[in-house]
Amino acid sequence: MKIGSLELGENPVFFAPLAGITHAPARLLAREAGCPLAWSEMVSAEGLVRRQASSLADLKRLPGEDPVAVQIFGADPAVMAEAARIVEESGAAVLDINVGCAVRKIVRQGAGVALMREPGRMRELLRAVRRAVRIPLTVKIRSGWEPGGGQALAIGRIAEECGADAVTLHPRTAVQKFTGRADWGLIASLKRSLAIPVIGNGDIRTPEDARRMFEETGCDAVMVGRRAVGDPHFFREVKEALGGRPIPREDPAERISRMGRYVELCVACHGEETAFRLLRTRLPWFTRNLPGAAALRRRLAACRSLAELRLLLGDVHSYIAWDPDSV
Ligand SMILES: Cc1cc2nc3c(=O)[nH]c(=O)nc-3n(C[C@H](O)[C@H](O)[C@H](O)COP(=O)(O)O)c2cc1C
Repeated sequence: MKIGSLELGENPVFFAPLAGITHAPARLLAREAGCPLAWSEMVSAEGLVRRQASSLADLKRLPGEDPVAVQIFGADPAVMAEAARIVEESGAAVLDINVGCAVRKIVRQGAGVALMREPGRMRELLRAVRRAVRIPLTVKIRSGWEPGGGQALAIGRIAEECGADAVTLHPRTAVQKFTGRADWGLIASLKRSLAIPVIGNGDIRTPEDARRMFEETGCDAVMVGRRAVGDPHFFREVKEALGGRPIPREDPAERISRMGRYVELCVACHGEETAFRLLRTRLPWFTRNLPGAAALRRRLAACRSLAELRLLLGDVHSYIAWDPDSV
């Protein structure tokens, strides 16, 4: 499967854009587990154009991470085009436009899923962005505002006409946000109506779900969000399952050493102070399904410094031998 000129292999499984989650360290862990392309968190086009430090920091990538897809959001065609240039200059492999975010703050600006109600502006915006950059351009959409999904098919066609190289569909309406179930039938309809690749997204929770999404929708790639948070090894499991091989299980020692690596990547990316603040909320995500997870989370919460975190996670053997019931 290719997005523009970018070759991404057979049956690719991508890491979705997740605000507050898919910073460089999380993306790199996904890449190391076999994910061929990971998305950034959504980045404000206004912020980039105004050279705001927090937005520019969102463009940071770590060595070994490439290729990365950077997603921007905004409503003004000229600002989006300028932001797209900044993203291209930063070395991103793919530029993605957010046409799916249903958070009120974003919708009120006319950005995210609000663009699905304005096909004229959507067209103008995509044309401006397409003219501004040469890297592959993708668009991530929802079902739209009404049940039925007609808007998704219409916006998908506009994206294709304006030179997008792929469209990702999360088939829930703006009103649904994350409730109900993703309507995979709409992914199949979009795939039938477009010539460019379609990336299916929504509710993949097991390797079997990923296989079914490919099979039932005919999509060219799938994208996983929530299921892979704190569990990059999921990408390895899906890859092996799609290749017809036995699913490798991650043992607790591997998970703990991955947590240790996440700590060091966070420090490399954000510096010690910010890394420690981020790790306090993000490290517990990695404890899901570990034996003694609740006790480990208590131990993590009790750490008052990076040195203490490192000591705890470095002590893998004692953790494995450690009886969680005795804590
Ligand atoms: C915490 C969180 C943050 C998200 N941030 C973004 C974002 O920045 N850009 C975007 O296009 N979608 C965002 N999404 C939507 C996901 O990319 C994805 O479409 C959705 O979670 C469905 O996929 P899943 O069922 O595999 O999680 C976010 C979702 C969640 C739960």
